[in-house]
Amino acid sequence: MPATPATSATPAPKTFRVKSFGCQMNVYDGERMAELLGAEGMTAAADGQEADLVVLNTCHIREKATEKVYSDIGRLRRNDGTAPLIAVAGCVAQAEGEEIMARAPSVKVVVGPQAYHRLPAMVADAVAGKRGTETDMPAEAKFAALPKRRKSAPTAFLTVQEGCDKFCTYCVVPYTRGAEISRPFADLVEEAKLLVAGGAREITLLGQNVNAWVGSDAKGCNIGLDGLIRTLAADPDLQRIRYTTSHPNDMTDGLIAAHGEVDKLMPFLHLPVQAGNDRVLKAMNRSHTADSYLKLLDRIRTANPDIALSGDFIVGFPGETDAEFEDTLRLVDAVGYAQAFSFKYSPRPGTPAATMADHVPAPVMDERLQRLQAALNRDQLAFNKASVGKTCQVLVERRGKLAGQLLGKSPWLQSVHFMGDAEIGQIVTVELVDAGPNSIAGHII
Ligand code: 5AD
Ligand code: SF4
Repeated sequence: MPATPATSATPAPKTFRVKSFGCQMNVYDGERMAELLGAEGMTAAADGQEADLVVLNTCHIREKATEKVYSDIGRLRRNDGTAPLIAVAGCVAQAEGEEIMARAPSVKVVVGPQAYHRLPAMVADAVAGKRGTETDMPAEAKFAALPKRRKSAPTAFLTVQEGCDKFCTYCVVPYTRGAEISRPFADLVEEAKLLVAGGAREITLLGQNVNAWVGSDAKGCNIGLDGLIRTLAADPDLQRIRYTTSHPNDMTDGLIAAHGEVDKLMPFLHLPVQAGNDRVLKAMNRSHTADSYLKLLDRIRTANPDIALSGDFIVGFPGETDAEFEDTLRLVDAVGYAQAFSFKYSPRPGTPAATMADHVPAPVMDERLQRLQAALNRDQLAFNKASVGKTCQVLVERRGKLAGQLLGKSPWLQSVHFMGDAEIGQIVTVELVDAGPNSIAGHII
């Protein structure tokens, strides 16, 4: 840990709040940090209650990430001028930790995504007056040091893989999350078992490149993500399995086949394409073309014709022309996504694209994003409307705002609301009767 200036001692925190921003992997990390702090005897602050320790679990993927952290830190100052003990975690901590320490004296702990198992010790140091920065990336040390999972919501995240070796030229992830590592098979089987024992009925396997996961099974045979999914599916108390985020190049034959063969693997796939033009894809270092992506989707749809597709898009990558952007719209029309995320290109310091020529002017990016989102919203609504009249299984996740209303997800990851009598965590049969852009109304059967 680098030497950092000592500050005056702070009272030991009794309550904490972990605020996670960004991707689902951060949500998972946030839950694990909360478990770590809980294991130290601290309790989560109730809603509206001021916490003694606030962990900002940050995201660095797109613009203004760092400014947002500074404004969040500023907002934590209380009316009487005091502030909680502040720890900055996540990808901004990894990328800009030293600067945060220098600029924000109220931050006492900076801890990167691969080192957060050290959070309790660092908080103890901070209490003793020693600020600390920990941004090492020791592979796997973190998971071994975390407490065992105990309680779970009906839907749980399980990080199986971290990091990225793909080096898309716009992306900061290979620098903040490091090289691809796969957690060992036995550890994942154990964590999944504990999550199910704690109440999980659905597990979403997470990784920046989740389908790059590799391991060796109980017999010592090399397996990929499909092998892990098949093993987890054998647990009779686990009802549903999902995984995200995948790279097209790691969609193996086995994983594609699993979509047709494993009933518990939900018919939903998030498979980012980013753009529909081959020159842009090459400049992004995506190592697939628009055509190879579409052919891959054909194979996946052959394995499971019922599958709902999702993607990520970036508009305004440096040098992207109007005609090249039109190729993205054409690809969207060809695929018919059930849902998707789309972003304006944002230069990330230290990435190759940030220094490329011909950055696209902001108004052009705005216009492209609007056109793309109009097409994606159109398809999302069409997908939801096409579900009306279907009967499907819904995993009840929580109660809605109205008395007697329940909320859950369809197999295709649509939010479904319905009136009825069922337990949280139960899977019920629901007829889908009305669809909007973001949710579907149903009747319990
Ligand atoms: N600018 C805009 N979007 C980005 N993404 C990643 N890096 C950038 C960037 N520099 C998007 C990609 C990725 C998603 C998680 O975030 O679409 O798939
Ligand atoms: Fe970033 Fe590309 Fe890796 Fe995804 S595959 S995390 S976009 S570098």
